[in-house]
Amino acid sequence: MTTIGIPKEIHPGEKRVAATPQTILKLRKLGFDIAIQSGAGDAINSSNAEYQEAGAAIVHDAAELWASSDLIMKVRPPEENEADLIRDGGWLVGFIWPGQNRDVVDRLAKKNATVFAMDSVPRITRAQKMDTLSAMANIAGYRAVIEAAAHFPRFFTGQITAAGRIDPAKMLVIGAGVAGLSAIGAAKGLGAIVRAFDPRSATKDQVASMGAEFLELNLKEEGEGKGGYAKEMSDDFLKAEMALFAQQAMQVDIIVTTALIPGKPAPKLITKGMVESMKPGSVIVDLAAEQGGNCALTEPGHVVHHKGVTIIGYTDLPSRMASMSSQLYGATVTALLEELIDKGDVSSQAETRPIGSVSAEVETASPKLKVDLDDEVVRGAIVLHEGKMLWPAPAKELPPPPEPGVPTKSSASVAAAKPAAGHGHGEGTGVNPWLLAVAALVMVGLAFVIPPKAESAGGDFLGHLTVFILAIFIGFQVVWNVKPALHTPLMSVTNAISGIILVGGMLQLGTSSLSLTVVLGAIAVLIAAINIAGGFLVTNRMLSMFRK
Ligand code: NAI
Repeated sequence: MTTIGIPKEIHPGEKRVAATPQTILKLRKLGFDIAIQSGAGDAINSSNAEYQEAGAAIVHDAAELWASSDLIMKVRPPEENEADLIRDGGWLVGFIWPGQNRDVVDRLAKKNATVFAMDSVPRITRAQKMDTLSAMANIAGYRAVIEAAAHFPRFFTGQITAAGRIDPAKMLVIGAGVAGLSAIGAAKGLGAIVRAFDPRSATKDQVASMGAEFLELNLKEEGEGKGGYAKEMSDDFLKAEMALFAQQAMQVDIIVTTALIPGKPAPKLITKGMVESMKPGSVIVDLAAEQGGNCALTEPGHVVHHKGVTIIGYTDLPSRMASMSSQLYGATVTALLEELIDKGDVSSQAETRPIGSVSAEVETASPKLKVDLDDEVVRGAIVLHEGKMLWPAPAKELPPPPEPGVPTKSSASVAAAKPAAGHGHGEGTGVNPWLLAVAALVMVGLAFVIPPKAESAGGDFLGHLTVFILAIFIGFQVVWNVKPALHTPLMSVTNAISGIILVGGMLQLGTSSLSLTVVLGAIAVLIAAINIAGGFLVTNRMLSMFRK
């Protein structure tokens, strides 16, 4: 039986909680027992009663909660005496920032704890649903614009009224990562004119697709480092971009700055002089405040005013939208826990057990947790395993470059290629040679049974059958091996295939007598037509999601 404990966050001003009642429902479905500290959800307006209704037991004393839980799920890294409260060999999942919190990690190690840092979950495609940093940065970017709007003395949108013309606000976003793009979306939604800058050229299209203008430098230096992350820029580049920002500071009303290289102090990009050159009433929101800030005048956690310009250095933007942040946070942690459940060892017998003080009873299998260090996500996120320091995860070795003349995997024939490792449809779709042998035998058998020109079948039956089976085989191989991310472009390919089927079906409808061929042709025309119309409809709906 695994009990998850959710303590009340004790960091001053922290309103988030690691699980909302909705999260509890999901965790209960997975089979966990849940205990939550009384009042943990007060700041997000979720009462003890709501948590109880969702299936959690309420524990009043923090020490009792920590001691009685197999796994503690929290938001902020342990503070004060929290690290000492964990039971010997207990598990902990939350933000840890192990690089900055060595003392906390050492204290947890002394208790032989197994600890996972949500801040260290690798930002890879498979781990997107566990990507807490992106979930929080998305909220922070949006909230940054709302904070800017609250301090900005004008509308964001332009208006022409009887009383006169109001120009739209101009905003500059520095750093078009997750938070930056979210800020662009929010500001465009409010009607501002938005410009953005980022040293990673890959962000250019993303910025443009959100309706903002991408600013460029004459200097060519790519900002993308290993694994798609930003790298530290040269002094020449920093000088050139600061000259651009100095120019922009005189033109724009709002600057939202998010520039950061993971693990490095934030680059100082907005000088005191630039702040002073801004129009009175202008606002700067510095999201990098916690890492020292991108603006020379930022005070982390505070709002400062300097010669008519407001500089916002809040470090708790997600906590300012606590119920939504808690919901998303809980969902990402739950996704990581799902990864940690030992699928092979889950007791198959469902058991019936009461949940805390709730009278309802739920039938679920009891999950066991397991550390699989071969799992890239688990290896990236784990800090301590039974007290043993495992952070940081070793850098993933890239495959050696191919020698000249040696064919690469992509150039090798599809038939020879082994199925790719990892998740996705490609896994395990290699053709079983036995199946092929059986299919070949069936075809040979049919060749003997059916006369080559069976009139009743309307011509060369065996020829048609061969083409039909090959079409199914190739179609399956092509479609099944397409990665989910490419399903939308695939739709146009399937539309083209449906077009061919449509033409084929229509050709079969040419005869006046009603035969099986005509009926099949009619069905093919109907289904292909539905597929084509549906394909266009879905593609259009998806495209309209990206149009402004
Ligand atoms: P990210 O890594 O996705 O984006 C950072 C961007 O800055 C990258 O696109 C990078 O290319 C760019 N950048 C790096 N060096 C630059 C330079 N010299 N000039 C211009 N751009 C540069 O990070 P994410 O997730 O968007 O977070 C952005 C910031 O927001 C981080 O500092 C993060 O800690 C902070 N944050 C703040 C919160 C708050 O409450 N204040 C809450 C959540 C995140």
